[in-house]
Amino acid sequence: MHVRRKLVAGNWKMNGSVADLAEVAEIAAAARRTSGVDVAICPPFTLIAAAVTRAASDISIGAQDCHAEASGAYTGSISAAMLKEAGARLAIVGHSERRAEWCETDEKVRAKAAAALGARLQTIVCVGESEAEREAGRANDVVASQLAGSLPDITGEAELVVAYEPIWAIGTGRTATTEDVADMHRMIRQRLVASFGDAGGRIRILYGGSVKGSNAAELFAIEDVDGALVGGASLTAEAIVPIIEAAGRG
Ligand code: PGA
Repeated sequence: MHVRRKLVAGNWKMNGSVADLAEVAEIAAAARRTSGVDVAICPPFTLIAAAVTRAASDISIGAQDCHAEASGAYTGSISAAMLKEAGARLAIVGHSERRAEWCETDEKVRAKAAAALGARLQTIVCVGESEAEREAGRANDVVASQLAGSLPDITGEAELVVAYEPIWAIGTGRTATTEDVADMHRMIRQRLVASFGDAGGRIRILYGGSVKGSNAAELFAIEDVDGALVGGASLTAEAIVPIIEAAGRG
């Protein structure tokens, strides 16, 4: 039985400005007061370096994506090594918004995950089914196939994290039922152990999709929910601190 520290990771998406870095400082202060929880904020690329100075060492600052290649003619892209140099300690890859809008395939996500881990960034690989797939009873199959296609063969020296985010729960105020979350996270754990052996028992599995202060405790009480990937409720300290505190309680 592995004891996994909870991780609360905020994804600011395309939100935030220099003025909002005051929130990062406040979130870092709250993280310092709360023991037993890891906290990360992933702002837009342009704010990473400045956010690192505001976070001190209390929280990790991360990126929302990275390119699979180290350098080259990839206009508009940022490599894992560049993120590392800017002070990022983690990267999210395969978020459903990138899979949809940038047509990122499992294969591409897997290459990005390998690049991020290779640069020694903690790497959060996102998976999750659409509403139509859940209604058709295919949620587990879809997520199992995303895991098989998106996770690298070895986790390397950096930490691999999986985030389960049902697409229909992102930004909608809807969350999956406790039973559905428990069922999905159990399946993901089984797959991780099948793929990585004992190390698979140490990989944290986050839940994402409309996580907020009012539902965090219930989600964190579920077996194999090792934290949360938080969008909207990560933009202010006021919204994310109750989630961090709920993670600290269990
Ligand atoms: P949400 O976003 O918390 O606003 O639903 C979660 C995510 O997309 O990571």
